[in-house]
Amino acid sequence: MTREAEALRAELEERLRFEALLVDLSARFVHVPADQVDGMIEEAQRRIVQALGLDRSTLLQRADTDDDLVITHAWAVPEFAPQPGLFAKRNFPWVHQTLLRGGIVRFSTLEELPAEAGLDQAAFRSVQQKSNVIFPLASTGKVFGALSFGTFRAQREWSDVLVQRLQLMADIFANALARQRSEQALQRALDDVTRLKQQLEAENAYLREVAEAQPSDIVGNSPALKRVLSQVDHVAPTDATTLLLGETGTGKELLAHLIHRRSRRKDRAMVKLNCAALPPTLIEAELFGREKGAYTGALTRQAGRFELAHGSTIFLDEIAELPLELQVKLLRVLEDGQLERIGSIKTLTVDVRVIAATNRDLAKLVAHGKFREDLYYRLNVFPIAVPPLRERGEDIPLLVWTFAKQFGQALGKPVERIPQDAMDALRHYPWPGNIRELRNVIERAVIVSENSTLQVPLGSAAVAGAVAPPTLAATERAQILAALEQTGWRIRGSAGAAALLGLKPTTLESRIKKLRLQRPR
Ligand SMILES: Nc1ncnc2c1ncn2[C@@H]1O[C@H](COP(=O)(O)OP(=O)(O)OP(=O)(O)O)[C@@H](O)[C@H]1O
Ligand SMILES: [Mg+2]
Repeated sequence: MTREAEALRAELEERLRFEALLVDLSARFVHVPADQVDGMIEEAQRRIVQALGLDRSTLLQRADTDDDLVITHAWAVPEFAPQPGLFAKRNFPWVHQTLLRGGIVRFSTLEELPAEAGLDQAAFRSVQQKSNVIFPLASTGKVFGALSFGTFRAQREWSDVLVQRLQLMADIFANALARQRSEQALQRALDDVTRLKQQLEAENAYLREVAEAQPSDIVGNSPALKRVLSQVDHVAPTDATTLLLGETGTGKELLAHLIHRRSRRKDRAMVKLNCAALPPTLIEAELFGREKGAYTGALTRQAGRFELAHGSTIFLDEIAELPLELQVKLLRVLEDGQLERIGSIKTLTVDVRVIAATNRDLAKLVAHGKFREDLYYRLNVFPIAVPPLRERGEDIPLLVWTFAKQFGQALGKPVERIPQDAMDALRHYPWPGNIRELRNVIERAVIVSENSTLQVPLGSAAVAGAVAPPTLAATERAQILAALEQTGWRIRGSAGAAALLGLKPTTLESRIKKLRLQRPR
């Protein structure tokens, strides 16, 4: 074999080895994860530099702030390691321009550089660059960097075939870097979404806490209240229908919330309906839902509160006001969890725990035919009688302080002192409006107080009677009023107030006149 042929063969072998290397490298880049791209690029740079007997390969990318190029990846034989932070624009303006326009810079000797590249040539010379080939790196048509291969010790020719092959590598690097960037952007976006979601969840939890903390803080240490709370403890974890009985303002709704929160249904919101707040036709749709066109004006379909409360608790407040015809429907839900929306024949089955409340005497209403007996027994599975405030006077000081602190804080008027005579007056007043009334009185007191000493307006209607024990006349008045309220101002008959009080109707009538009692409208 001639020497020429041998040289050719050696060259061919080297080319084949290089081709094999490129095939290997490109295969490795196919599925490279974002966090391994950087290491893989530098490794590829090393292998190419070594395979071709070069001195250095650098990869530059556009800095974030301007269009200058900064070295981000490099491999070099030790004595030709690049200066960190080599900025292309300042030192190599012509090269920089050419690359940004998408052109390749290629020279075997510095003399091959064009006249316009004077500054570049001087810069290359100062670092003793001999030969160089530099490719633009682009993604979606935009140049974002450059990849260079160069020599310092000896000059070197860049054949077209070699440039083509290296261009291929440049494209692979560009691809990997673009993918890495979009993956990182995606990850950042995902992280943002996760953070946002966590924040929202935390906010929700917080809001719920705030919203629920208020109704669930039951203040009081009296034996009467403790008995109620122990009943709550017993019934809460069961699914038993619970009936809360007690005068207005005694905390029935508060206790309903507490029962729900201590039940296994606590993660779902409790659904509430006040049976006294809506006219009968609307209550039916509210409770059981309706189909579109169920009646004139039913323009949309509506899920009822029972459906909304599926898996949770429904609180039926003022249950005594539920119209008789709806009581049948309620009884059915209580018995087998079944209901139909108005205007639908489809039976729905719901899993709902019922808590009902009333300040009326349900047994009496049953006796008077105003409340269905079967529903009464069904609701009365676990009755809890919430005692009026006057039967747990021990709780008053703590309640007063709690409300004083609450309103003091809310109104920016902190309460530090409550005079003893004021506390005594509050303690002895009979509180017909119970805790709600006490709360209102304290709110007003905080508003009128001029300093950190709570000024209870003892002259006010609410507490006036508290200064002295209630008079006989006041007691009589209260009793008669209560009886009238209970009977709906009916005087005569076995269901009338007179019978309830053990008086003759005429006697009762004259007392009503004397006391100037008037039926509220
Ligand atoms: N033990 C208590 N500790 C603190 N606040 C209470 C307590 N009991 C009741 N309250 C407060 O008193 C007010 C009345 O309570 P709630 O609405 O629960 O009474 P209710 O029995 O449902 O009255 P009504 O029969 O008039 O609907 C509410 O502001 C409630 O937060
Ligand atoms: Mg209530």
